[in-house]
Amino acid sequence: MVKLAVFLSGKGSNFSAILKAIDEGRLNARVVLVISNNPEAGGLTTAREEGIATAMFDRSLFSDGERFGREMLNTLQFHGIELICLAGYLRKVPPMVLRAFPQRVVNIHPALLPKFGGKGMWGHFVHEAVIAAGESESGATAHYVDEIYDHGAIIAQRKLSVRPGETPQSLAERVLEIEHQLYPEVLQQLVSQIDTAIE
Ligand code: GRF
Repeated sequence: MVKLAVFLSGKGSNFSAILKAIDEGRLNARVVLVISNNPEAGGLTTAREEGIATAMFDRSLFSDGERFGREMLNTLQFHGIELICLAGYLRKVPPMVLRAFPQRVVNIHPALLPKFGGKGMWGHFVHEAVIAAGESESGATAHYVDEIYDHGAIIAQRKLSVRPGETPQSLAERVLEIEHQLYPEVLQQLVSQIDTAIE
């Protein structure tokens, strides 16, 4: 069973969707570690309730980025992590970790990349920008992670129509529902590739 680490900074509804998919047999993997930069993240509470190991990584507590990256990599390797899923993680993944996990770090973004991504494009900012731009569609994008925010190769997207009178909040809710379907499906694809590569 492929071992996943989930990185999150907030409420963790995508993390919960991943756990549900595992529970229902739609995702053949195990979340063995949750990493956060935010001690208040709701997803950490979920992890503790589920008996999943958690680790806090606060860059400001490390003298330099190398040490930070090495410590995170050690933790991931200690837990035997094979795939890293960012789920509302509002920090960059250290380059050392990206190098150690080529094509094994993925993210879900609440818009149709390459539009509406990059630094500062998270949460309500994304949906406000989509509406302000008068877009007729939005959606969710699963993509590989590289050193630039929301920049790595796209794996899959799912679209919805922006409705007349749509607010950033209503759009956020509808996109989140799509994320909760798309992300576990994409993860299952990746997990089965990893399983095949190992066999
Ligand atoms: C989601 O919209 C995700 O696309 C983005 O951050 C949000 C996290 O939501 N990267 P949650 O914490 O999973 O509820």
